[in-house]
Parts: sequence; C-alpha cells; structure tokens
Amino acid sequence: MHDLPSERPRLSPVDSQVPWWKRTTTYQIYPRSFADANGDGIGDLRGILGKLDYLQRLGVETLWLSPFFQSPQADFGYDISDHFAIAEEYGTMDDVRALIREVHARGMKIVLDMVLNHTSALHPWFAASRRDRGDPKRDWYIWRDGRKPGGKAPPNNWRSMLGGSGWHYDEATDQWYFASFLDFQPDLNYRNPEVKAAMLDVVRHWFAQGADGLRLDIFNALFKDASFADNPFSWRPMPTESNPHGFFQRHIHTIDHPDTIAFARELRKVVDEFADPPRFLVGEVFGDAAMLRRYCGEAADGLHLVFLFETLNARWQGRHVRALIQAFEHAFPEPFSPTFVLGNHDRPRSIHRLRGGRDEAKLLAALQLTVRGVPFIYYGEEIGMDNHDIPLHEGLDPVSARFRMAPRWLVRWFRRRGVLLNRDECRSPMQWDASKNAGFSPDDATPWLPLHRRSAAVNVATQEGDPESILCCYRNLLALRREQPALQWGQLAWIAAPRLPDNVVAFRRILPGNGAGAVEVFLNFSKRVAELDLSAYAGRVLFSNRTGQRSAVPPAYTLRGFEAVVVLDQP
Ligand code: NOJ
Repeated sequence: MHDLPSERPRLSPVDSQVPWWKRTTTYQIYPRSFADANGDGIGDLRGILGKLDYLQRLGVETLWLSPFFQSPQADFGYDISDHFAIAEEYGTMDDVRALIREVHARGMKIVLDMVLNHTSALHPWFAASRRDRGDPKRDWYIWRDGRKPGGKAPPNNWRSMLGGSGWHYDEATDQWYFASFLDFQPDLNYRNPEVKAAMLDVVRHWFAQGADGLRLDIFNALFKDASFADNPFSWRPMPTESNPHGFFQRHIHTIDHPDTIAFARELRKVVDEFADPPRFLVGEVFGDAAMLRRYCGEAADGLHLVFLFETLNARWQGRHVRALIQAFEHAFPEPFSPTFVLGNHDRPRSIHRLRGGRDEAKLLAALQLTVRGVPFIYYGEEIGMDNHDIPLHEGLDPVSARFRMAPRWLVRWFRRRGVLLNRDECRSPMQWDASKNAGFSPDDATPWLPLHRRSAAVNVATQEGDPESILCCYRNLLALRREQPALQWGQLAWIAAPRLPDNVVAFRRILPGNGAGAVEVFLNFSKRVAELDLSAYAGRVLFSNRTGQRSAVPPAYTLRGFEAVVVLDQP
C-alpha cells in the first residue's frame, strides 16, 4: 500500500460557500495525555505545539482540545475554577496564544471545550454562594430547602447523570445544591440573568482570543424546571446513547428542557457576532437523532452541530450500519449536518469494541471519513490505540471512585454494555514511539497514567513506515476527503444494486449539479469476499483500505473481507 498521491483540492466557488465547519475533519486532543513537553508526566500546551506538524501531515483540519482552564482537576478540567486562566500544569496564556497562532498559520482551526453547565465547587462564585444564604452569588447556583422532616431529605427526586440523587446537603447554610454530574461540580442557575450574562462573556472572551468553535459539555442539562416537581417514574434502569432516561425516572425536569433548547438559539446569536471567520458550536447532548436535531433549531438557528453518539454502541453489520446512516440522514438533511464519532475521552476506544481487529478499524475509518457528516477522531484512534485495563480501585477518574464499592456483578453488567466506569482506560498517554515512555514524556519522567502495555508495538513511529498501517490508512482517507469536495459536503444516496450482499454498505456522494462527478463508496462489513459489478462506472478506483492502489475501474472487483473501496465515477 502506498501513500495516495495528493491532488490539488478542487474548490469551486460553490464549495467556498459551504461553511468550513461543515466540511472539516476534527481531531480531539485530551491535553493531559497527548504530549508532555516539560517532563512533569502531564501533557501540556507546549507538547501539543510540538505535534502540530504531525497533525497537519495526518491531514486533520480542526483540533478540539478538552479543557485546559484553571481547575483543581478533580474531573481533569471539566471542573473549572477560573474560565479566564490556564491551569499551571498545562501552560500559560502565552502558550494558548502561540497555539492558536500556530494552528491558524497551518490553515487549521481550533475548538475549545466549554463547560457551561457547572463550575468547580472551588470556583470563587460557588465559594461565595455557599458561604451565606444572603450572598449576592447565592442564586448563581441551585439551592433548595430539604424536604421535611427537618429538611434532611433532598428537595425532590432528581437524579444526577450517574444515578443517585443530584442533590447535595451543605451544612453551613442548611440547604441542598444540585449537581448534574459529580458533587464537586455544582450546576449554575441559568434562570438568573447574571449567570447567563457572565457565561456569555466567557464565550465571547474565547472567541475574541481566536477560538474557531466551542464544544459544549453536557449542554442538555443547562436549564432545570422552575417548578422543581419530581421527575416521573419510569421502568428504565439505565440510560443509553439514544435515550438519556434511566435510573427509574424520566428526567423531564432536568434534561432537554425547552428552555435549554431555546437557549441554544440565544447562544447562536452570540456566536454569529463573530462572523469573520465564522465560528461554530457543537453540543454534547444525548438522545435519538430526531430529539438531538431540536438543539440545532427549526431554522438551523441553534447549535451548528450535535454529537451523535449512537455510533459508539453500534453493531457493525450491514443492515445496522444502513439503518444508522438512514436515521442520521433523516434527522439531519441539508442545511443540517450529522456528526460521526467513534470514540472520546469518556467511552471505550473504538478498536476495543472491535476486539483489536485492525482491518475492521480501517473499515470504520473509511466509513467515518466518507459518509455524510463531520467526523470527530479521538487522539490515538489513527494508530489503533486500545483501552488500557486499569482496575477500578486504581482509577484516578472520579467516576471510578464512585463505583469502587459497587458489587462485582454490577461492574460486569456495565462493562458488557460498553460503559467505562474507569475512564482512565481510554485516556492513556499517546503512543508516539517505542521508547520507555512512548515519546509522551521524557524517559526519566513518570506519566500521570500508565502507558498501554503494547505501546512499544503500537505507536506512530512504527506505523509511519508501514504502508499497511492504520495510520497510513487514516492519512490516505483524510487526503482523499480533502481532494474530493463530494466527500466533504455532497449529498448521500444509497446505491441500489440487487446483487450486493447484505453486508456490503454502498452509497454515493454527489454534489448538487454533479459537475465534479460522484464518489461511490463500497464497505464490506463481513469477512466474506463480495463481487462488485463496476461495469457501469468509468473512472478510477481512488482508495482501498487493502491495496491502497489507484487504478482504472475494472469491470468487476472482488471486495475482500472488511475492504473499503472508493470509486470516482467520472467518464
Ligand atoms: C461530559 C464530559 O465529556 C466528561 O468527561 C465530564 O466528566 C462530564 N461531562 C462532566 O463535565
């Protein structure tokens, strides 16, 4: 397999009218785990700066960085104590400026992670709020009296997203505060106009610093119902990717509140103040595709994108893949755009679900980078980094602490359903080379999490030189996507070929007007070979994850097990 020749992107005037964020490819960096420049065992901003050439050569266009703001790091940055300052272990404001500058100098974009829903309990706002019922900041968070007798029971039955009551008793003022996630992440009260104004200032500040977009953490939890009525009972024990209700209640008063959906439009207006260049918002929300679309606004005037997480638990068989894409297409027709996610810092790594299958990993990469929607690649996915088994009791992740005492059967039950109770497992240091610390940290440092035991075999340096590697496959696909506008923003249509086996997913990406030719994609979700009749096409084979060769289209093509083939149909 050889690197595909890079052809000049053919951007027509029409292409340039399609907003960049709809055409882009995104790569998520978990700063703590990516590259440690100062040798303290913790990844940092200077480390990321040093890897920009790698990222540019990989071919991703937009970088999303998990939070690097000041934080006690109880949830590794998703607990912010100052939205305007940088956590010392990650660097300085000058480093952020340098990073933004260098990313832009390479023609790339940068997306920051914004936690609007809550702050750290150590944020000065919360410190003031909990000090005294009369403090001006009291109403910035959600405080209520407990239920009788004696106020010692939580105000109502609202649960956190992890199960268990979302209410936490605070002795100092004899009231309870609400937290959608963990107790040290108190929810802000968006019904207080001062809170809303303060958080919109944070958003404006980071756009003014040059951020091209924001990823919005648990955006679906922002507004709670003002009635504080109990959530209704439900028989659902567990939330899933497509249905956030569970723990025996429907979270109608705490999740997906109509006021949150309305706020998406308010936030959009703030983003639209920054038109040159345009910026974008991508929301972390949970539910089925139709529900999630509501966050984008009826008139596409809400969040630009929302994560579609059903792919994280998908069954990779032909008919399931077709059904998934169909659901995305149905819910996100133009001018909306789906997203395509295979992993992130909360979920098992995608190759783990494939039981290490490298061919399958390359096939999924081909699906992700050829299907309609904005792809989000999680760091290390491009080399097939796997989960690192770390026992619950050794976990640094605060979620693992919460489940440490859980009965064994429950832990196994979660595992079988692909829920990570110790998210350290998918956050191990990036594997750059075969050295002791895998090139993440200098060899005399101790990385904050142990390296994966296969880091000497699975790393960037070994794959660089291997044309059969997952890394080269990603590079080739990313280059192909840059070269073919139809793959970036073309419509998707199914290829109806009656003789195609059920496990071959085949679609065509086509630009309106079809000036540039259509791109056809054939993905074999089975280990069995399949014969393709390509006699109707006159063009070129642009990509195969098995042979890597470009060639004229043959009349018949034997699609091998887990092979992906992309054909340009252009006489
Ligand atoms: C979702 C984030 O992805 C996760 O890492 C974090 O722990 C929670 N939100 C709380 O902010």
